[in-house]
Amino acid sequence: MKKLEIRVEPGQRPAPQALPDPLGFGRHFTSRMFTRHYSTGQGWHDAAIGPYKPLVIDPAAEVFHCGQMIFEGTKAYLRPDGNLNLFRPEMNAERFNRSAERMAMPVMDVGEHVQAITELVRLEHAWVPRAEGAALYIRPVMIATENTLEVRASRRFLHFIILSPVAPYFAGGFKPVSVFVSDDFVRTVRGGTGEAKTPGNYAGSLCGTEKAIAAGYQQVLWLDAVERRYVDEVGAMNIALVYDGKHIRTPALSGGILPGITRDSLLRLAPDLGYTVQQDRIDILEALRDVASGKITEAFGIGTGAVIAPVGRFGYRGTDYVVGSGEPGPVARNLFRSLTDIQYGRTADPYGWTRLVEVATAAKPAAAQA
Ligand SMILES: Cc1ncc(COP(=O)(O)O)c(C=O)c1O
Repeated sequence: MKKLEIRVEPGQRPAPQALPDPLGFGRHFTSRMFTRHYSTGQGWHDAAIGPYKPLVIDPAAEVFHCGQMIFEGTKAYLRPDGNLNLFRPEMNAERFNRSAERMAMPVMDVGEHVQAITELVRLEHAWVPRAEGAALYIRPVMIATENTLEVRASRRFLHFIILSPVAPYFAGGFKPVSVFVSDDFVRTVRGGTGEAKTPGNYAGSLCGTEKAIAAGYQQVLWLDAVERRYVDEVGAMNIALVYDGKHIRTPALSGGILPGITRDSLLRLAPDLGYTVQQDRIDILEALRDVASGKITEAFGIGTGAVIAPVGRFGYRGTDYVVGSGEPGPVARNLFRSLTDIQYGRTADPYGWTRLVEVATAAKPAAAQA
């Protein structure tokens, strides 16, 4: 297999003795980043790992005008032996390529992308936080850098990867989130860009989210854009409903839903834990009726950030629907524990999902040495 040649420059700042406290999510960044360039004719070139620093980009660059930009999100997890695990990084790299195709951007070799992530993470391993549930968040990005105001695909691109040590999503244990069901704003539409991880989807969701927050909720449940009736996603997560404590139902991928890697993993893991799973179209009115009757015992968001984010209540057209007792339920807890045990290497990985990043014994993260 062809190996990507990556020039490694020295980092800007030494690895920290102690990470900032509180860490939060995506507020601190490690000392190095990966970059490489693309131009039509030349293809991908000039791969480097160098100091984390501001980018110098011309104000006419297409990313600022057409918005040709994609990104990804995955994590490196600290194992009990001090080495690190990546979780299904090839699947992120494949989704990055599908986003690229949808946004008329160049694809890249999946192996090279995963190699770039692996080498950067290995160099920056001392930034992996030690607290239980914390991780090193990995953010690959591609932007259009050709200077033109013409509305057409760019001929030049920059691919970069940055790393951020992040705190556990639920620092003091699972907390239920409140969810406002939006039937005026939509996130994306079938045939649109909802399956791509492109910033426009997220920018377009902010106004509806701000309104939900002003109304006393934390997240938005997005309905399909055509009929405003079928459940798509919650916030920037996929969603699952639990019936009678044992049957897990999630919306089928419709063209407007981001195909989550956590979603795919839970669909494969859940049957091995004794649950049945179903992917289909979920009518919001039917679902709320089942919440009210108690048939739906749990609901939760699913994604890399939180893994599982239990929903305590849904608000729809002036009525609140409390899910189960309003507290996180046993299915959420069981799935969370089972998946994170695999991610952090606390248990065997029968699915072949984790990729070991070995860190030299003498240079293991402080966490492993404590
Ligand atoms: C819109 C949206 N849906 C779902 C997800 C969950 O995907 P994953 O499990 O791959 O993190 C994400 C996060 O990437 C997202 O941004």
